[in-house]
Amino acid sequence: MTLQPHSLITLPDDLDPDRLPRHVAVIMDGNGRWARQRHLPRIMGHQRGVDTLKDLLRCCKDWGIEALTAYAFSTENWGRPLPEVDFLMTLFERVLRRELPEMVEEGVQIHFVGDLTCLPPSLQAEIERAMSATAHNQKIKFVVATNYGGRREIIQACRSLAAKVKAGVLDPADIDEVLFERHLYTGGLPDPDLLIRTSGEMRVSNFLLWQVAYAEIYVTNTLWPDFDRAAFHEALRNFQQRHRRFGRL
Ligand code: FPP
Repeated sequence: MTLQPHSLITLPDDLDPDRLPRHVAVIMDGNGRWARQRHLPRIMGHQRGVDTLKDLLRCCKDWGIEALTAYAFSTENWGRPLPEVDFLMTLFERVLRRELPEMVEEGVQIHFVGDLTCLPPSLQAEIERAMSATAHNQKIKFVVATNYGGRREIIQACRSLAAKVKAGVLDPADIDEVLFERHLYTGGLPDPDLLIRTSGEMRVSNFLLWQVAYAEIYVTNTLWPDFDRAAFHEALRNFQQRHRRFGRL
């Protein structure tokens, strides 16, 4: 991993600490292209992407951001070649096991969102262990979207509300945005204020469809493995220049 310049260890002077996003979400795209440019196998891009994510998490914590959500594996990613899917599942498990002591020590509260029941049982066990070991940590919430799909999340929220109506414990007239939001995987987290997508693609790709309703979207051509603190600094500078209106004038 590249060492960060000293000026980027604490919040840079040109960023206003009172106008930081509370929650940053990232679509980590471009690992494959990063590897291809270096004549390396695609998996090397994912491997390098883990280092980038680790440093971004630390940076968010150091700079006072409350939550970071990363799109690690979508419901559509099962369509990739089996060796790549297997590699990613093993990578998630290995990284979780390796990084857990540091996350505990650094006050990271980790969550996984998505349909976790389809993941390999050993990964599910590691996820369970990491979530319970960090449940009381307060420094930063780190949310990993794995086997995640925004549409699937909305459908599962509808099902769980419908089941309550059927059981006679919920009146349909009481379903509002606040109640609906509580039935999403991300219930209780603030909505992302800033959604970053690397590698230049201008798509949301089924990520946090409900939650990004008012997020500022920042797309950079930088490939994910190269998205370092300087690149994040630029994204935050751009965010702070935006005038967020939430539909008002
Ligand atoms: C997209 O790049 C990246 C992924 C599908 C995987 C991202 C996963 C990580 C960086 C690992 C995270 C690890 C943990 C433990 C949370 P791509 O393969 O679509 O790149 P391409 O568009 O250039 O082909």
